[in-house]
Amino acid sequence: MTDALDLDRVAIAGIAPGPEVMWARRHLPTAGLEAYRTIRSRLALHPRQPKVVLVSSPTAGDGKSLTAVNLAGTLALGGGPVLLLDGNLSRPAVHGILGVDAEPGLAGILSGAHTLQQGCRRVEGNRELYFLPAGSAGQGAGDLLQTSRWHDLAGVMRASFGYVVIDAPPVGANAEYEWLESVCDGVVLVVRPGRTARGAARRALERMSPRPMLGIVVNDCA
Ligand SMILES: Nc1ncnc2c1ncn2[C@@H]1O[C@H](COP(=O)(O)OP(=O)(O)OP(=O)(O)O)[C@@H](O)[C@H]1O
Ligand SMILES: [Mg+2]
Repeated sequence: MTDALDLDRVAIAGIAPGPEVMWARRHLPTAGLEAYRTIRSRLALHPRQPKVVLVSSPTAGDGKSLTAVNLAGTLALGGGPVLLLDGNLSRPAVHGILGVDAEPGLAGILSGAHTLQQGCRRVEGNRELYFLPAGSAGQGAGDLLQTSRWHDLAGVMRASFGYVVIDAPPVGANAEYEWLESVCDGVVLVVRPGRTARGAARRALERMSPRPMLGIVVNDCA
């Protein structure tokens, strides 16, 4: 399906293969790591020097969360602390992938119940990788992000970590997406051949172009 996309406008950031979830386990499977290293290099060499990276995709189930976990883990192996943030307040999934508690999380920090220090935790098996879950936002997920507190928090995260990788909802899917995108330096778009609908991929590219696209990760293509 990639030939349906207008690739003149974007760079292929790398190829993400199979379903390995590398940092949900203690050991690092070698399969797939090289592909994520390539994506890491493309980000490091990107002229925009992105630090806060949103991982999104045209539709549900393209592999955003899997890609965000593995990309953040690979970036952390490159040195310097990396924060993986589950920004999908309506459908949080990363805590399940990593097998850790869902609370305290972003929602609790934004509502004033918790601090960033309380929410961030080290991910086992990767010294430089930290994780902040989404927490329980309930119905008002978009409203929680629509505050100066979110912008302030994003600024603190940017200053405290080498990279911040945000697992997001699909492009333009809801108000949350817009607020998450508003603080990022760019978006990595995940597409999944055989699953991502061509029309949806085209609409996502049109919606984003030319800013803030950083590149495309082709997931599940091995
Ligand atoms: N490369 C892959 N190979 C096999 N299975 C995969 C691959 N990528 C993702 N999956 C599986 O597809 C499902 C959806 O993946 P994931 O949760 O990462 O997608 P998502 O885009 O974050 O979904 P959502 O839009 O619901 O947040 C999961 O069960 C995941 O394990
Ligand atoms: Mg997801």
